[in-house]
Amino acid sequence: MTPSVPLALVGLLLLSLVSSQTINYSVEDLTNRNADFAAQLYRSVSSRTDDNVFLSVFTLSTALSALLCTANGPTQDQLLQGLGLTGLDPQTLPGTPEGSAVLQGSIVMNLQQGVAILPSSSFQVSSTYLDLVQTKFGGNAQSLAYTSPQETVDTINRWAQDQTGDRIQELVTNLDSQTQLLLATAASYQTRFSPSFNSSLTQDERFYVDRYHVVMVPMMFRADKYFLAYDRLLKK
Ligand SMILES: *[C@@H]1O[C@H](CO)[C@@H](O)[C@H](O)[C@H]1NC(C)=O
Ligand SMILES: *[C@@H]1O[C@H](CO)[C@@H](O)[C@H](O)[C@H]1NC(C)=O
Repeated sequence: MTPSVPLALVGLLLLSLVSSQTINYSVEDLTNRNADFAAQLYRSVSSRTDDNVFLSVFTLSTALSALLCTANGPTQDQLLQGLGLTGLDPQTLPGTPEGSAVLQGSIVMNLQQGVAILPSSSFQVSSTYLDLVQTKFGGNAQSLAYTSPQETVDTINRWAQDQTGDRIQELVTNLDSQTQLLLATAASYQTRFSPSFNSSLTQDERFYVDRYHVVMVPMMFRADKYFLAYDRLLKK
């Protein structure tokens, strides 16, 4: 067992706190579905790597929802299934800021985020879709010349810096010059642990950077009674 497991448990704990504070049944349903998506994603990613895993489920589901708006046929079905939204009408799903307002009302503070649809200059994206990305997700669209990858990397990283008040400096490091469409998303927010940790109990403990490297880091500590679940699909 590697130390990435506690990270995932923290993620799920936060998500379930959000759901207990929602006001609208459909919002609660969406929050639960998003928690399922988070668990599926973690299972899938962790089964492919022995490294520590840190996932931002919120940014990923926002980007995939922006893609879902324009998909149809089998692509739409697969996106709905992947996001755990089977049975819902994609047109009625909330975009941002509605979706993020739900998060913001509970545990997420100072949310700054952006979605961008970045087609290659040779690729035509319908203006109806670009309008939808703007109105529903507050996102923007810009054609980029992926044939000059370094310039494009700089443009995308500047965009991410603008969206997050410089908190995200380097969203991409290299790009394939054959890229036709890039869906970019960046988010920065603060959140509180609930219940909170008592800082006077923090003490240095081992952290496994990977299989062979161990460092001592300050670890938060909290003793209480918790419900536990065993996930036999989780290979970690
Ligand atoms: C609750 O759901 C209804 C119907 O879907 C919607 O019109 C309304 O805006 C929602 N209210 C909130 C606070 O999200
Ligand atoms: C934090 O832990 C210390 C030491 O056990 C205790 O004295 C203190 O009251 C705790 N603070 C809170 C806010 O629980």
